[in-house]
Amino acid sequence: MCGIVGYVGHRQAVDVVMAGLRRLEYRGYDSTGVAVAHEGRIASAKKAGKLANLDAVLAESPLPAATTGIGHTRWATHGAPNDANAHPHLDSEGRVAVVHNGIIENFAELRAELEAAGHELVSETDTETVAHLLHDELKVTPDLPEAVRAVCRRLEGAFTLVITDAQQPDVVVGARRNSPLVVGVGEGEMFLGSDVAAFIDHTREAVELGQDQVVSITKDGFEVTGFDGSPAQTKAYHVDWDVSAAEKGGFDWYMLKEIAEQPQAVADTLLGRHTTDGRLQLDEVRLSDDELREIDKIIIIACGTASYAGLVAKYAIEHWTRIPCEVELASEFRYRDPIIDRSTLVVAISQSGETMDTLMAIRYARQQRARVLSVCNTNGSTIPRESDAVIYTHAGPEVAVASTKGFLSQVVACYLLGLYLAQVRGVKFGDEISQIIAELEKLPAGIQRMLDEGQQVRDLAADLVGKRSFLFLGRHVGYPVALEGALKLKELAYVHAEGFAAGELKHGPIALVEEGLPVFVVVPPHGRDQLRDKVISNIQEIRARGARTIVLAEDGDTDVERYADTLIRLPKVPTLLQPLVATVPLQIFACELAVQLGYDVDQPRNLAKSVTVE
Ligand code: AGP
Repeated sequence: MCGIVGYVGHRQAVDVVMAGLRRLEYRGYDSTGVAVAHEGRIASAKKAGKLANLDAVLAESPLPAATTGIGHTRWATHGAPNDANAHPHLDSEGRVAVVHNGIIENFAELRAELEAAGHELVSETDTETVAHLLHDELKVTPDLPEAVRAVCRRLEGAFTLVITDAQQPDVVVGARRNSPLVVGVGEGEMFLGSDVAAFIDHTREAVELGQDQVVSITKDGFEVTGFDGSPAQTKAYHVDWDVSAAEKGGFDWYMLKEIAEQPQAVADTLLGRHTTDGRLQLDEVRLSDDELREIDKIIIIACGTASYAGLVAKYAIEHWTRIPCEVELASEFRYRDPIIDRSTLVVAISQSGETMDTLMAIRYARQQRARVLSVCNTNGSTIPRESDAVIYTHAGPEVAVASTKGFLSQVVACYLLGLYLAQVRGVKFGDEISQIIAELEKLPAGIQRMLDEGQQVRDLAADLVGKRSFLFLGRHVGYPVALEGALKLKELAYVHAEGFAAGELKHGPIALVEEGLPVFVVVPPHGRDQLRDKVISNIQEIRARGARTIVLAEDGDTDVERYADTLIRLPKVPTLLQPLVATVPLQIFACELAVQLGYDVDQPRNLAKSVTVE
């Protein structure tokens, strides 16, 4: 997620803004920028890369003295992470500067309208359209807050905007829909920030903005309205976090913060993909429909958690497209002399986009003339750059080594790929696709429910803190969920944990089952009763041998109650989509067990966030 700072007060704005951006570096970013209002014009500087690059630019060409300014650290979604796409974005006259966090869904049509009216836009971003819209609006609505409200009423999607107008330098205006924005209340100075870390060095008095609100700050105060101009209620609070906690949004660990961000990560990954006429549109799928229709095999390559997202995807893609789909560990792929050619689509899944095993695998695949599509969370990273097409997840930066929101958003992106292929190849009608998308769009609420009910899982972790071995069982898409649950526990709590296909139990692993052994079992939804009955039999088998059964089953499934020592209820969702809710309790469990054991949840021993060696 991008970092935003706004300031009006008595200090040098560029100093306050740059310091605030440094406090927001933890959010992850790939370019930065700052703008101040000075003598009727905007003075700005922006640069790809880290803040040090912007510091160097400012050292060489300092911005003029000013007490009003805005700044931004960009996590690229639309457009590569380069100087031109860095924020702030200006209108053509250099009067207005805009910074933005989020995704403006209808920016393409707004951009077309602006260009048809003669505007010349110089970046690939959705944000720049706002600067040009404001330019036009200010001609008819001179008041900046009112002009911002008028423009916001035309925007669709998720956005936090902060704007300065060089001709109204005593005010900075912010607008919020879905992405967070907070006011910092100082003495003779006011701040805006994407979170309190942006201004915590100056004030701990904050005001949280609500949905569809516009805030105007001057050095003496602030005013908040709705997008319609009506006065809005706000909630003031005192920030008692220390800076480190502020950077984690008040959570003790980045992993907890990222687990909590999963509803938004899934919603953002879905945002803007489904047009009103029921067709899917994916960013940067630079493969023509004809090329996609030639595909007769899909091989998904990835590592670790990303490979389990691929396993979930396999079930969905084969079911929806009827194209054979294999899943290969990237580190094994090129050494098994795979059978691939021009009609093979290799799908590389990588949160970081820098995993060397996966990168070397796609290089090999391209040498064999296969087409490569990557699913990635890091815009501009190596793997998408070396792919023929990319679907970006919009989970925002994932700081904790253990992947959580990265995993769920990878699964969603793979669902979108499967549906897109089905659409292009005509094996699913638009209404069928729309129905599945509608089910997907309900999932953030289901994920949120799992978060809200997490205390049961945390209590279970406290109860099992002495256990040194755990099993995880599942069938169909529950099998990769079992694998992921086991991996989370291994990498966080350093205990033995294994995931199995439940049907494999009797072929060996059941010998592991003994009195008190904790076994998690993911039970398929009622829609797959034959599969579900088999899993219930598996639960009986392990229970008869003394296992402590922790059963994850959908609401209303009463058949499992008698076999569950602990029953974790899941929302009713279609079979193929169940991993998006079933995984969350397993993430929470692993995290809590690690906390109970006193381990570093964000930086587990021996692990790196991105494995850039083979
Ligand atoms: C997951 O919790 C681990 N951090 C690890 O398995 C990770 O998923 C794997 O290294 C792949 O990383 P990538 O998605 O950045 O390519």
